[in-house]
Amino acid sequence: MVCPIRAVLIALCILTISSCDRAQRTGGEAKPIVLGYSQLGDESTWRTRNSFSITTAAKKAGIKIMFEDAMQDQANQIKALRSFIAYKVDVIAFSPLVETGWDTVLGEAKAAGIPVILVDRMIDTKDESLYTCALSSDFTLEGRRAAEYLLKKYKNEAGPINIVELAGTAESTPAIGRSKGFRDVLAAYPKFRVIFSEDGDFMASKGREIMHKVLTRYAAKDIDVLYSHNDDMTFGAIEVMKEAGIKPGKDIAIISVDATQRSVDYLKVGVINCIIECNPNSGPQVMELARKVVAKEPVPKRTYIDETRFDEFGAVGSILNRGY
Ligand code: AHR
Repeated sequence: MVCPIRAVLIALCILTISSCDRAQRTGGEAKPIVLGYSQLGDESTWRTRNSFSITTAAKKAGIKIMFEDAMQDQANQIKALRSFIAYKVDVIAFSPLVETGWDTVLGEAKAAGIPVILVDRMIDTKDESLYTCALSSDFTLEGRRAAEYLLKKYKNEAGPINIVELAGTAESTPAIGRSKGFRDVLAAYPKFRVIFSEDGDFMASKGREIMHKVLTRYAAKDIDVLYSHNDDMTFGAIEVMKEAGIKPGKDIAIISVDATQRSVDYLKVGVINCIIECNPNSGPQVMELARKVVAKEPVPKRTYIDETRFDEFGAVGSILNRGY
């Protein structure tokens, strides 16, 4: 029989260990949660804001963040994930550059017992257990919103309505969703024709380059709409249009995705006609998920970020100050 004093001591010991453990895991004073975060790059205004949101939210939540920028290279992301595993972080979060090629490294994280949160973009895998949860935009809905704007704008026109598409990084979730949602809606309306589409990696320089190419192939009068998967590519394309004497927003209608300050200002003066919002301010939600996942609290497998559409038919006043 265990003597009563010994039993009390053992119970006290168990209590101390478990509360220590809890303090460590919940980010209490003893040891903050350590989050390994792999950002895919710094290709756009949106991305810069997203990184700012993640790092400031971590600081505010008392979470220790190991933040790595992969400079648009999947190999760098995989290397960062492996370094987080070696360091034995409490939780990993990352924005995958493209959808495929993650199974091996995520299998290693799983074997090490480290939960993984997908942020912004998704992965294409048959094994859903490789990540705990995902927080992202609904990119297909964004594409649908872009197309629905066109249905409204051209409802009284017979067509054809010729569309040039500046797509995002090939094989990335936003490029796939924004193309798919857009085409899903327009498929029922043959007057809309996508006459040109090319990947511009979400970069202003590529937006410029591709718009130059487009204008060597097509006369401005034969292009009705530019659908650009992000603001930075749009800005590059707008510069080229202006240099060519084309009035953006008038000669060619422009739909852009993101809703950064400069694009909102362009919408206000009619240089851009429609903006599909993509919200980069996910930091606080990511930290909340990280805290819950580490504490082994239930979390939804997939959470979508709240977003909307701003266009020339609505009031722009409420969206004047984006802060990025
Ligand atoms: O994944 C989100 C997209 O990536 C944003 O629309 C774009 O600006 C960024 O580079």
